[in-house]
Amino acid sequence: MSSPLGGQEAEAAVKVTKDKNGVDLITLQNPRGFSAKVSLHGGQVLSWKNERGEELLFRSSKANSKPPAPVRAGIPICFPQFGNRGSLEQHGFARNRIWEIDRNPPPLHHNDCDGKVFIDLLLKPSEEDMRIWPHSFEFRLRVLLTSHGALKLISRVRNIGCKAFCFSIAYHTYFSVSDISEVRVEGLETLDYLDNLHHKKRFTEQGDALTFETEVDRIYIGSPHMIGVFDHEKKRTFLIRKEGLPDAVVWNPWEKKAKAIVDMGDDEYRQTICVDGAAVEKPITLKPGEEWTGRLELSALPSL
Ligand code: BG6
Repeated sequence: MSSPLGGQEAEAAVKVTKDKNGVDLITLQNPRGFSAKVSLHGGQVLSWKNERGEELLFRSSKANSKPPAPVRAGIPICFPQFGNRGSLEQHGFARNRIWEIDRNPPPLHHNDCDGKVFIDLLLKPSEEDMRIWPHSFEFRLRVLLTSHGALKLISRVRNIGCKAFCFSIAYHTYFSVSDISEVRVEGLETLDYLDNLHHKKRFTEQGDALTFETEVDRIYIGSPHMIGVFDHEKKRTFLIRKEGLPDAVVWNPWEKKAKAIVDMGDDEYRQTICVDGAAVEKPITLKPGEEWTGRLELSALPSL
């Protein structure tokens, strides 16, 4: 389905198969031959390929795909927390749970319906989730491939309970890059960030675009709607557009930490950079009946 089609128009398709653990895996393909794979495990995008069949997202060779462990690949969704405070698991439980296909989602804005190549997913808390995070919510996620091959994730979180709650969220996006030394991130210059490597101390980014020579683990506060990730060797630029997601997390574990991560190959830190659209610094509050929407749109463009 995802093979390049030599200039011919492919058929737009949304197909559901099972992965090796018996979990539904949805393949989206647009008429230009771009494709994406989304798993009900975590509501997670695992793959996004361009019209030449080139993978644009990183997947660790040691990724564990068996629920309820998170999968180190693609775009895990960190919800209802980012990080590891309190009794909630690290980065929240959404990435570990089995979502369902949402057959009857409430209507979305027409810009969120571009073409027919999308899938709607739904996460509702189980009784066990309610014990560790006692809030009634519905998390609706639309994953959409636009006619140009951009990947859009539209999240809607609704409070269906009778008391307010707060949450944070991050689309923990593992981009596939040629080599981390060839990567430059633009759009975060002069911003303040919280450095996870210094107990979340606040610093200000100085002048230039970000390049990478060591471990980086930062939350950039109030980042612009558009961020660019440039890969010089691949001559590819990822554009990240975001709405409702004021922050941007940038993470690369570098050599020493990568070796300590069991589901990551020792040198694989070189092949990825995480740049997440996120709402972390100021958690989002929802009163009963309120809904929050966050949009992330990724495009991959050739750069000179
Ligand atoms: C990053 C965090 O976004 O995710 C890091 O800022 C964390 O501190 C990393 O180590 C990976 O987290 P995990 O739970 O997927 O291994």
